[in-house]
Amino acid sequence: MKRAVCPGSFDPITYGHLDIIKRASAQFDEVIVAVLENRTKSSLFTVAERIEMITATTAHLSNVKVDSWSGLLADYCKTNSINAIVKGLRAVTDFDYELQMAQLNLQASGVETMLMATAPAHSFLSSSLVKELAHYGGDVSTMVPPTVNAALKLRVAGK
Ligand code: PNS
Repeated sequence: MKRAVCPGSFDPITYGHLDIIKRASAQFDEVIVAVLENRTKSSLFTVAERIEMITATTAHLSNVKVDSWSGLLADYCKTNSINAIVKGLRAVTDFDYELQMAQLNLQASGVETMLMATAPAHSFLSSSLVKELAHYGGDVSTMVPPTVNAALKLRVAGK
């Protein structure tokens, strides 16, 4: 069985993430979407809230599971018999960081990283951009699923 992990902070999950998860699910027997900590970012949603949103929005993909991990991605891969790490690559600006992480995770765990080209429609999309727009009352309905949009509206209103 070939098992991949799609790791990220998913704060919150966007249509860009969902496109990568769906395409990864067509290539592997099982895909685990793992919510991990990114120490360079502060989060708007708790890990439990992010898991709930990912679970709801990937429910139609039968070979996709959701998990969380508070340590290194390399250790998650070793502990869970992961064959590949799948991440989306939006633009050249993502490349340096993703290459560094891919090389580090290969050395630390022996697990290959597959960098999947983001669909052009999502190439500008990021959770940070979505949060910034939502904060100022911008319309993010084309960027995140309705349940996530609703959760964002509540959170930026302080609920
Ligand atoms: O969605 P993001 O924020 O770009 O995802 C980055 C993430 C969470 C995958 C990355 O920060 C990560 O792997 N965090 C877990 C800790 C780790 O393994 N860090 C890299 C080596 S120091």
